[in-house]
Amino acid sequence: MDATHTDGASLHGRTAIVTGGNTGIGKAVVLALAGNGANLVIDYVADKAAEDALEQSLRELGEQALGVEADVSKVEDLKKLIDAAVSRFGRVDIMVNNAGIETRSSILDTTEEQYQRVLDINLKSAFFGTQLAASQMIAQGGGGRIINMTSVHEDWPMPGNTPYCLSKGGMRMLTRTAGIELAPHGITVVGVGPGAVDTPINKSTVSDPTLLSKLNAAIPLGRMAEPQDIASVVTYLAGDGASYVTATTVFVDGGLMHASLGL
Ligand code: BGC
Repeated sequence: MDATHTDGASLHGRTAIVTGGNTGIGKAVVLALAGNGANLVIDYVADKAAEDALEQSLRELGEQALGVEADVSKVEDLKKLIDAAVSRFGRVDIMVNNAGIETRSSILDTTEEQYQRVLDINLKSAFFGTQLAASQMIAQGGGGRIINMTSVHEDWPMPGNTPYCLSKGGMRMLTRTAGIELAPHGITVVGVGPGAVDTPINKSTVSDPTLLSKLNAAIPLGRMAEPQDIASVVTYLAGDGASYVTATTVFVDGGLMHASLGL
């Protein structure tokens, strides 16, 4: 794979599925993988804004992409994504378990329903997405790439966002364990751990100027990430240049996780 990812063809002939691919980091990942030649199955949830965003991506990508409505917290719906990729493009080479939500709730006030939703959408979907994609990759032969969108919070506690941290901690061990189990099949499993990214999940921070400047000041590189900052790393990990990377997480956080307080 071209190290600069600028040839636009390094993923030619490969098929990728991106969960939550119509918004935020997922949308940037879709465009970056497609820009490097991959065929795309874009998972989306059925609401108006999501459908509009999806339509825009599909218009840009033409024949190269297919939108599939799926609720990734359901195994049946994850199967729909795999089936769509196989029937339209013949195979699955890259699975990006990207869909995620957070409730910003603490251990004292999280409801059972919030807990379940976060764990199902973030962790259960990544577990079964990995299982189903890996089964397809093994059946078709030739290995593959599974990329789990985790967070600095797979490792770094975020008080007031407990279910989210739990789900990302689970994805950390999913990545480690599945990476080892699937290595004999030539399938790599890698986590990508963003810090703060300018996406809908961080809407409340971005729309509060005081909070935003505090956050930017806490990030050693001085700014929140753009979704493209994360997507370019995913594209690299999806390509041949990253064939020896597995069972680990690549953090893309501008240094946030290891920043000192400067006191
Ligand atoms: C969370 C954000 C948080 C960021 C940095 C992300 O994983 O979704 O809510 O601002 O990490 O802490």
